[in-house]
Amino acid sequence: MDTYATLRIGDKELQLPLINGTEGEKAIDISKLRAETGYITMDVGYGNTGSCQSAITYMDGEEGTLRYRGIPVEQLAEQSTFKETSYLLINGRLPTRDELTRFSVMLNDNSLVHTDLKVFFQNFPRESHPMGILSSMVNALRSFYPSLARNTEEINIIMTRLLAKVRTMATMSYKISRGHELVFPRPDLTYCENFLNMMFDSPVKPYEIKKEVVDALRVFWILHADHEQNCSTSTVRMVGSARVNLYAAISAGIAALWGPLHGGANQAVIEMLKEIAEGKGDYKKAIERAKDKNDPFRLMGFGHRVYKTYDPRARIMKKMCDELLESLQMSDPLLDIARELEEVALNDQYFIDHNLYPNVDFYSGIVLRAIGIPTSMFTVMFALGRLPGWIAQWKESQDDPQWKLSRPRQIYTGHKKYDYVPIHAR
Ligand code: CMC
Repeated sequence: MDTYATLRIGDKELQLPLINGTEGEKAIDISKLRAETGYITMDVGYGNTGSCQSAITYMDGEEGTLRYRGIPVEQLAEQSTFKETSYLLINGRLPTRDELTRFSVMLNDNSLVHTDLKVFFQNFPRESHPMGILSSMVNALRSFYPSLARNTEEINIIMTRLLAKVRTMATMSYKISRGHELVFPRPDLTYCENFLNMMFDSPVKPYEIKKEVVDALRVFWILHADHEQNCSTSTVRMVGSARVNLYAAISAGIAALWGPLHGGANQAVIEMLKEIAEGKGDYKKAIERAKDKNDPFRLMGFGHRVYKTYDPRARIMKKMCDELLESLQMSDPLLDIARELEEVALNDQYFIDHNLYPNVDFYSGIVLRAIGIPTSMFTVMFALGRLPGWIAQWKESQDDPQWKLSRPRQIYTGHKKYDYVPIHAR
């Protein structure tokens, strides 16, 4: 087997070591390239660039495979809980019964937030997007809980605190935005049940926790729990590479996830489906617009940088969407439009040629609507699911013996040197 690749530039030859992953992934190590040749590589959007070696998540975009710590996501969605999957991602293996109990106790112990945080929430302008609020508030947590991550025990507390408190904070922002009384976490409820109860329970109308809704939320969060080096996770790692605290790194990840090409796509899908519904269900127009190179419109919830086949998460989400609506005896006109849109797109030559398939966000918005989550909070739901992944990736990067400050280079294309001219002489 080859152990290096040979690069020839002019009469100079350089041997570049090859790196192999456990699933046969291959890389060329170019870390000495600039020092030895003066060249850098150019890879806008990093589609061909590995930024780290990671043992957390494996995905194969051609096969449609996704595994957390080696376990297929389908098995976790079927049998695990979000809490257990979070433990798996962060600690690298499934917990024993005792470890899981300890983890639950720690999550419960940390689930209340400082009451002063309420003042922050109340002072955001009414129109603020919940993702902007969440990103700011997670950053603010550092001021409320300033303890440093000096040892494993302290790091564990900060990680658990984030998992427990961000869930509470998300429900607080929802309640405050509606002018409703806050509902506090209950130790007798599971992680998912607690979230639903804090969101929807009220003194005037007690919330009935339904098994199928809890299950849908559990699967939704497990499917979002990690996705290797995507935009927000790379942001967490990049910001973390400057050795900032975990809160600041996660806050940056939330900001990146907000974008409609990334986590914001779940909200954008529903807005697109609503627009189609308002235009009397003319989904063919949306397909034509998506194909028109002079129109910036894209079919939201379609396409992926890595998956060139059906996103395995979308397959599970679609099935779950059907099951949830059926068991709740609900119908959603947007689901009918989504189904028709998918069928037309999958048979359209443009989508076939470009390998464009539904991604996780195509059906997730319909699931969230059925649960009762308002559209503006969809991306917050994604962020809550992605938290364990961000934490695991941050932890791995901080422990990495090959750790380095992230600092890409560029090819400068601006002016050549010229002299400053004082304003009176211009
Ligand atoms: N609708 C129409 N055309 C598309 C779409 C789409 N949704 N996605 C990609 N294309 C076309 C694009 O126009 C380009 O065409 P051409 O080569 O003829 O110029 C080609 O496919 C490649 O596009 P790209 O932008 O270079 O590909 P990318 O790998 O950077 O795109 C993407 C990935 C997710 C940004 C893109 O597919 C997209 O914008 N999708 C819609 C937004 C969306 O659903 N995002 C959620 C992603 S999954 C959730 C997550 O994990 O973040």
